[in-house]
Amino acid sequence: MEVIVNSENVKYSDNYIESRYDYQYTTSERIGNQITVTPKTEQLVFRTQRKLPRLGVMLVGWGGNNGCTFTAALIANQLGLTWPTRRGTQKANWFGSITQSSTIPLGGHVNVPLASLLPTVHPNDIAVDGWDISGLSVAQAMERAQVLEPTLQELLKPHMKKYRPRPSIYAPDFIAANQSTRADNVLGGNKQKQVKQIMKDIEDFRNTQLLDKVIVLWTANTERFSEIIPGVNDTEENLKKSIANNHAELSPSTLFAYASISMGCPYINGSPQNTFVPGLVEFAESRGVYIGGDDFKSGQTKLKSVIVDFLVSAGIKPVSIVSYNHLGNNDGKNLSAPAQFKSKEVIQFNMIFIEIATLFKLQISKSNVVDDMVSSNEILYQPGEKPDHVVVIKYVPYVGKFQFEFQNKEAIH
Ligand SMILES: NC(=O)c1ccc[n+]([C@@H]2O[C@H](COP(=O)([O-])OP(=O)(O)OC[C@H]3O[C@@H](n4cnc5c(N)ncnc54)[C@H](O)[C@@H]3O)[C@@H](O)[C@H]2O)c1
Repeated sequence: MEVIVNSENVKYSDNYIESRYDYQYTTSERIGNQITVTPKTEQLVFRTQRKLPRLGVMLVGWGGNNGCTFTAALIANQLGLTWPTRRGTQKANWFGSITQSSTIPLGGHVNVPLASLLPTVHPNDIAVDGWDISGLSVAQAMERAQVLEPTLQELLKPHMKKYRPRPSIYAPDFIAANQSTRADNVLGGNKQKQVKQIMKDIEDFRNTQLLDKVIVLWTANTERFSEIIPGVNDTEENLKKSIANNHAELSPSTLFAYASISMGCPYINGSPQNTFVPGLVEFAESRGVYIGGDDFKSGQTKLKSVIVDFLVSAGIKPVSIVSYNHLGNNDGKNLSAPAQFKSKEVIQFNMIFIEIATLFKLQISKSNVVDDMVSSNEILYQPGEKPDHVVVIKYVPYVGKFQFEFQNKEAIH
């Protein structure tokens, strides 16, 4: 299905769709008791390439629960697999995919799949590759993850055992000590050498699969926060020097992002740590390469922020925000270490803050959710008043594969 826009603001050529868009927003200024609101219009031009690229995705943490389940989903859909389950026969589908399974109203009661609005690569056409500090094949990783039905695993195994993660950058100081037993597939050498190897891996994948575009996605374990140190990772130049000097405070994720940007590949961060230190952001900007992501927020973090948004926008005052997670998977095991949990905890605070900031059209300048939330609504919150906000993540191994049923117990009062 193709959607054609009939407007003088949208031009179609053989290679591109170019659309002019008036972005309207307002700024406001408060002087004493008076607020002056000024509407603004900014003209934007969007240009979209019509020819779909041959796309490859490289996963950092390919042997993890996300990595192998993503790969399994691609293969099951490519092959159109069906498998028996307790509830009858299941056929592979893309339910849960925002591009394939959500729709957009176009007017006149016409709703179309999101992917049909602009040329969009179909997930079945994505080539996949990646790295992991654990050397198990992706088929063995799928077994270890205990996410998929055994009947489906048996069908997938012959197709997945040829996939083996490339050796990765391992810095024990950045992920929990309890992960060390799986680190048997790691790169040696200094940081400069490791970055060069990652760049070579990207090049190798691009050439062997004849790809036009490669995206690198971090779905490896949550790291502790990196310190932002002047002279080390605060500017592009200093970051480059620190890699050459093998500085200890450069996380594996920052090195992966650096290698990815160096190769002109967009980099997406699926975990909550601060991979994007100021020097890396400057590097991405100067190279004109997209970077994005700040934890996947696919589960309870998202749900919690939606509920808070709903309550506050209805004029209802949340006084305590508490979430309990019982995780039996390897993510939970890693997050049971205080430094890694801190990254997750901080990001959840920020997430709710961002939802509330959006609600009140605030500029986001601070990152302490509680303080900013309070100052965003003087009607619900008195000066100095703060709602309680507690995030609890407990590693409960028995929960294991049943995590999807049990993991998220929310409480917002
Ligand atoms: N699944 C979700 O719904 C969800 C939501 C939000 C965030 N996340 C985050 O996504 C990440 C992955 O989740 P998961 O459930 O797949 O975890 P997982 O523990 O199953 O997988 C992580 C994988 O990363 C590997 N790894 C660790 N450090 C590495 C490195 N430096 N280089 C390469 N590989 C490395 C591990 O060996 C493991 O195989 C976690 O940080 C998690 O917090 C997941």
